[in-house]
Amino acid sequence: MKKSLVLAATAVIMMGAATSVMAKPFCASCHSGHKDKMGPSFVHVVEAYGSVDAVFEFLDSDAALDPKVTAFAKKSKIMKGQLKKYRKLNDAKKADVRAWFEEQIK
Ligand code: HEC
Repeated sequence: MKKSLVLAATAVIMMGAATSVMAKPFCASCHSGHKDKMGPSFVHVVEAYGSVDAVFEFLDSDAALDPKVTAFAKKSKIMKGQLKKYRKLNDAKKADVRAWFEEQIK
């Protein structure tokens, strides 16, 4: 069991290294660029906000989460905790999240 976990983790790390030099931010466990997962796809999110700038203006503000992606509004409690986590990141980490986000929606 433990061994297979280690192998799986190694595979994930290697895949990450092959596709991008950037580590995936924690957002990746619930979001992807074009496919809804636990959370809405980022394409879906950008559509609701109007632009990537508008999405990050919200994330980087201290405004409360008032879900704009209405189809997922019932799940906003899940995102509220994540938002707190994001807002505690330093500026360099936030910039990484944004670069990764923009990469996903291409
Ligand atoms: C544990 C799962 C989870 C993680 C991790 C997560 N999210 Fe979410 N996110 C959700 C869910 C569920 C929603 C849908 C509820 C909502 O829209 O508020 C959501 C919605 C959003 C929205 C739209 C909010 C709105 O106005 O509707 C944005 C923007 C977003 N996430 C960005 C991020 C970013 C950036 C990260 C990483 C820093 C992240 N999320 C990490 C689950 C997650």
